[in-house]
Amino acid sequence: MTKKLIVANWKMNGTSEKVENDLNVYGANQITNSPNVVLALPNLYLHHASNLNANFKIASQDVSQFLGYGAYTGEISSRMLLDFKVKYAIIGHSERRQNLDESDILLAKKLENTLNSGIIPIFCIGEEQSVRDSGKYMEFLLAQLGLLTRLNAGIEELIIAYEPVWAVGTGKVPTGEQIAEIVELINSFVQKTLPRAKILVLYGGSVTAKNIAEILQVADIAGVLVGGASLRVDEFTAICAHA
Ligand code: PGA
Repeated sequence: MTKKLIVANWKMNGTSEKVENDLNVYGANQITNSPNVVLALPNLYLHHASNLNANFKIASQDVSQFLGYGAYTGEISSRMLLDFKVKYAIIGHSERRQNLDESDILLAKKLENTLNSGIIPIFCIGEEQSVRDSGKYMEFLLAQLGLLTRLNAGIEELIIAYEPVWAVGTGKVPTGEQIAEIVELINSFVQKTLPRAKILVLYGGSVTAKNIAEILQVADIAGVLVGGASLRVDEFTAICAHA
């Protein structure tokens, strides 16, 4: 079995007590204490993870569009995240695109800042149900990917997560063929436009301990992004058996 990258997206969840407890459990278990396991915690709790010096990696769920330090109230820059050993940053999650109106212009700045500071972006793309139903989802996803060709930053390493909006938090999972079609689309796009970059493709949306094995059978899938199921220690540990 090839090793896969398993990324937990905790979203806006956790208390100091639960976070500390879960991180201690993950740090002490060799299944979860792996460099192929990535935990995207709320920024407030990043220090718990960085203090542990564990083998698992740390991600942020977002990053500021502004670089370095400065008069940007409420913002957290990539440079600040590096202080907490953050290796990856989720950018363009559908919940932020929808709830916070994140536009391509904003996402481009976030991607540039992240790439320029050496944090690896986990760039999320995905179509809504209505777009899937219209049959125009390939064009839609290519338009989202197009942003990657307009950045003022070199891309050496990048992760692209295909997260159909209709599968996020819904319990609905695309078929293996549906996922494979998009993985192929992404891979052919990056081969043409970013041939020198190291790019991994993840799937995200209602991944559980039950369906993970089947999802990982899709050709060229490098791993998964897990939301809800990553909040339950036993279930996430079972998922990490694939890391
Ligand atoms: P879900 O979320 O696993 O709860 O569907 C995935 C995500 O939002 O990354």
